Amino acid sequence: FQDNEASDGLYSLLSLAQKRESEDFIFRRPLRCLDMLATDGLFTFVASKPQLACAAFIIAEPSEVISLELSDVSIDCSAGDFIKIFDGWVLKGEKFPSNQDHPLPLYERYTDYCSSTAPGATSRSSQNVAMIFFRIHSPASGFTLAVKKLYNPFPCNIMSQSPEGSFTMVMPHQRKNCSFSIIYPVEIRLTELSLGQSFHLNPLQLAWSGCSGSGDYVELLGGNGVDTSKMFPVADLCFSLSGLAQMKIGCDNSVVRLVSSGNYINRVSFQYRLLEHNELPKARENSLENFCTVE
Ligand SMILES: *[C@@H]1O[C@H](CO)[C@@H](O)[C@H](O)[C@H]1NC(C)=O
Repeated sequence: FQDNEASDGLYSLLSLAQKRESEDFIFRRPLRCLDMLATDGLFTFVASKPQLACAAFIIAEPSEVISLELSDVSIDCSAGDFIKIFDGWVLKGEKFPSNQDHPLPLYERYTDYCSSTAPGATSRSSQNVAMIFFRIHSPASGFTLAVKKLYNPFPCNIMSQSPEGSFTMVMPHQRKNCSFSIIYPVEIRLTELSLGQSFHLNPLQLAWSGCSGSGDYVELLGGNGVDTSKMFPVADLCFSLSGLAQMKIGCDNSVVRLVSSGNYINRVSFQYRLLEHNELPKARENSLENFCTVE
């Protein structure tokens, strides 16, 4: 009996130690010149030849922001090498979040290793996406990037990791606009919309004037880039309703944008799913323009 107990105790200690170890475990892998990172960890880049245009996209869960830290940096800034961290994503020259919706001016969204005075650059993103650009001329030069995701209780601008899911955006008494971006053609179904002022307005009146003049509304946007200010409006909604709109947006990017005046607590819930190939509007194939369609 005693033997059994002793070994039981040992096993439980061992399993506890293993559990601890897995909690402390740090994921580590090489970083590629073009890369996408979705986990915490240490990512080391070593140039094997001159690499002049590299970028890594980093994405976290909607309710997380990303902390990035550079270490073991061996680059030659005076020879034109650089490492820059960007608060957001840049894709095909367009930025997410747009200049309009990001809380910081554009120049403050860049952290430049070469011009930063502190040893080792650190940066914390304002939303669940960030990226790093780098150019390294001489072989064997490189750096290590530590990625750490942090909880964000008030997510505003969000890039969805997946083409399926659901989300609720809440804006409590803040004059701020938030976008939820899905970079796939999707069907979006709004399941709940609650905008403070709707109780005071006559819905018929609203139907005539649309949402213009209303400081609180939800826009559905479609487009082929990531800058929400360059996308076209698919629908404006400024009624408090439930079980309302359902739309197929056959674009590369579909966005739910909540515009808030700060006077109310606004809330929008929605579900989305990827459009099947046969659901993609036909116009897309025939059209010469880089155009997308909506049903
Ligand atoms: C929110 O967006 C609306 C419409 O795009 C704009 O008129 C308003 O100034 C924006 N508010 C803020 C705080 O950026």
